[in-house]
Amino acid sequence: MKAVKVENLTKKFGEFTAVDNISFDIEEGEIFGLLGPNGAGKTTTISMLATMAKATAGKAVINGYDMKTSQDGVRKSIGIVFQDQSLDEELTARENMDFHGRLYRIPKEVREERIEELLRLVGLFERKDDLVKTFSGGMRRRLEIARGLLHRPKVLFLDEPTLGLDPQTRNYLWEYIEKLNQDFKISVIITTHYMEEADRLCDRIGIIDKGKIVAMDTPENLKDRIGGDIITVKSPDYREKIKDCGFFWIDRTEFFDGFFTITLSGAEEHLTEIISALIGQGIKITSVSMHKPTLEDVFLHYTGRSIRDEEAGAKDRMRMMHMVRRH
Ligand SMILES: Nc1ncnc2c1ncn2[C@@H]1O[C@H](COP(=O)(O)OP(=O)(O)O)[C@@H](O)[C@H]1O
Ligand SMILES: [Mg+2]
Repeated sequence: MKAVKVENLTKKFGEFTAVDNISFDIEEGEIFGLLGPNGAGKTTTISMLATMAKATAGKAVINGYDMKTSQDGVRKSIGIVFQDQSLDEELTARENMDFHGRLYRIPKEVREERIEELLRLVGLFERKDDLVKTFSGGMRRRLEIARGLLHRPKVLFLDEPTLGLDPQTRNYLWEYIEKLNQDFKISVIITTHYMEEADRLCDRIGIIDKGKIVAMDTPENLKDRIGGDIITVKSPDYREKIKDCGFFWIDRTEFFDGFFTITLSGAEEHLTEIISALIGQGIKITSVSMHKPTLEDVFLHYTGRSIRDEEAGAKDRMRMMHMVRRH
């Protein structure tokens, strides 16, 4: 059985289509990512699957339960950690967990046992009797994840779980998510706009933009499809000036706002030739970088736009060469 099956799911707000006819499956034990920029439709998708918002059209089955006809079955099958935090600050970690356990009518003994197990799992057992208001952002997120697992869901929904966390805490959280996926054989659907997060955690990724899934595969396959190496050239005036360099070893040249990319194999070998050719055409070059395709390049390729957030962008630029501006 598939953990999640989504067919032609659509959500409209009036005339506006926030989620546009998307379909995907999630295998049992799989970590599936929805990667896309703000406003892509990620939260809306998760809300429909979690039966918190009504779909305009389409179908979804979660753990064998139909989203429309078996809402209770769906709700018992899923754990949710939403973008906006929902802990009670004036309660302790243990009390927050206990409250959730009561909601799900988990008998006291089982509840206590699981609360201890889960708090240990996310490294918060020592802090169980401290008020949540004394917790850092990362600790709160870990507590929310532990809470979402209390009723032993088959599928965990994580909506931008590391939003606003510092890189170190984010890394820490990724390790927990991987651990629970392995220890509990739980299926995970995670939304993110951090490509590093999707790359690192997900078995498969659906790239979502303007409500549509534009590409879906393993991170490796998505990047492989783009090609061998990418040379990114920033230039103020390429649009008017660039002509085809005529190099047969260039697979593809794509133009974006303020820069263009050249995809080829063996970029290091051909870099000087390319730069000479561009300069020969009178093109001003602001900077040149060379890198292996990232999910950012995949997103660019399919949407023509950048998903970029500064932090990830800076890291992606593996070897940056600043060129002297020629006038
Ligand atoms: N309740 C709503 N009413 C109208 N528009 C909405 C509502 N919720 C979300 N949207 C719009 O739908 C689009 C997708 O939103 P959302 O699913 O939150 O995106 P994401 O989570 O990928 O950032 C956005 O353009 C957003 O403004
Ligand atoms: Mg969102």
